[in-house]
Amino acid sequence: MSRSALPRLAVMVSGRGRNLQALHTACADGRIPATIAGVVSSRTNAAALIYAREAGLRSICVAAGGIERSAYDAALIDALQSLQPDIIAMAGFMRIVGDGFIEAFRGRLLNIHPSLLPKYPGLHTHRRALEAGDVEHGATVHFVTEALDGGPRVIQASVPVRPDDDETTLAARVLDDVELKLFPQVMAWMARGELCQRDDVAMFRGAVLSSPLTADALESAFR
Ligand code: GRF
Repeated sequence: MSRSALPRLAVMVSGRGRNLQALHTACADGRIPATIAGVVSSRTNAAALIYAREAGLRSICVAAGGIERSAYDAALIDALQSLQPDIIAMAGFMRIVGDGFIEAFRGRLLNIHPSLLPKYPGLHTHRRALEAGDVEHGATVHFVTEALDGGPRVIQASVPVRPDDDETTLAARVLDDVELKLFPQVMAWMARGELCQRDDVAMFRGAVLSSPLTADALESAFR
């Protein structure tokens, strides 16, 4: 009897690849019952690509420079479709994707955003939290829709902002204490079929998520 193939997880990157590394490790140790189908980067010089190649992961670069939006989206769709992904993790992918891309992969697209959405959609979230004097900050995993950073939220968690924090220290705490835990957990739920997007809501274990899950929902293997 043939073993059913594991779900295929594609990861979209532009930067260091810390989220990619966490997802890959969690797939390798079985916490995420999926296999990494490949890595797609928007930047040829992304450190994430170096990690991917050293880890023996298939990697594709769709360089963002110099081509207009619809041509870029078409190239990105082709790259992702070549990996035949069941799930796509946007892990620090720093390009805004077009409606055509979202339509092509609707329901399979999850993004990690470094803020407690709906606060601070867009860029420079840590700086904005510091400038606002927030006492807490964090990250959110959400399904990707046409609304920038506005898709159905799945889970979010926070860390304290410390008086001596700057953008670097705060970003590191959010990454290490929140992002690298939430994203692998969400991918495990997706791979097990416990999480899905239905129209414009997230469904978790058969119930609509009217508000995002919190860190309390993290299973022990992801804490
Ligand atoms: C993460 O902080 C993510 O929230 C943001 O970009 C960063 C990516 O970091 N969108 P890495 O490439 O996963 O290290």
